[in-house]
Amino acid sequence: MPDPFAQAGYLPLPELSPYVRHDRFEQPKEVFKFIANTLARRTDSNHAYHMADIGCANGELLYYLRQRFAHWRFQGYDLTPEFIAAGRAYPPMAGIALEVGDLFALTSTFDIVSFINVMTVMDGAEEPLLKLLSLVNPGGLLLVDGIFNVDDIELRAVFMDNSRPESRGIWRREYSQFSRCSIAAILADRCRSFDFEEIPMNVDIPRRPEAPAINVWTFRDERGRRILTNGTHMMLEKTLLTVQV
Ligand SMILES: C[S@@+](CC[C@H](N)C(=O)[O-])C[C@H]1O[C@@H](n2cnc3c(N)ncnc32)[C@H](O)[C@@H]1O
Repeated sequence: MPDPFAQAGYLPLPELSPYVRHDRFEQPKEVFKFIANTLARRTDSNHAYHMADIGCANGELLYYLRQRFAHWRFQGYDLTPEFIAAGRAYPPMAGIALEVGDLFALTSTFDIVSFINVMTVMDGAEEPLLKLLSLVNPGGLLLVDGIFNVDDIELRAVFMDNSRPESRGIWRREYSQFSRCSIAAILADRCRSFDFEEIPMNVDIPRRPEAPAINVWTFRDERGRRILTNGTHMMLEKTLLTVQV
């Protein structure tokens, strides 16, 4: 019997993905607004920063950030060519450079680097974090979101979404959780400072029965907070890690 943990890798399945479409560019995610507010607080409004979003998919985050920081230069990299092609094919993205690229092969450096909704597909935190740090100019900022556990517990998961023919029978790797303790140990002595902030969900997302089970929806916990989940029924509580390099 093959071991699903050994065989499963990250598999984006473009045919099921929203990143090959353009309908979400004008509906920025809550996390994008949170990132923009964090950047506004932590940057000099007169400075023209050079920012890279790694794992940018079709560039939705960069599209939103350009509306907030029109004088910055933006660059996006993603491993999946179909997502980059979709971003380039959206005329209002003109001026934002999108390239197919693997985080681990990049060598350019930037004032600000973001890695949003990608840590959860990584097998470990150390290798991506060290690589990301190497891409940030001294004095710059690194923004990484993820499910960063306040308890000292690590989680690696594989799942199989049998709700759609395209994904049926395929074990895939995602939803990694890294503890804040382990992240802190990696970053100690490697940066000026870092902090974790819970990313609040400010809108209800209804469950759509016709959508793939992997799509997210929200429910309320006992404190009334909106919690993101999907057909895995895991609590996908996002945290933003901001590192001052
Ligand atoms: C869940 S999507 C998130 C996309 C986008 N950042 C967002 O928040 O909407 C994860 C993305 O990471 C990309 N990715 C995964 N591993 C990568 C790597 N090693 N280098 C660059 N991109 C990667 C995938 O192709 C995919 O587009």
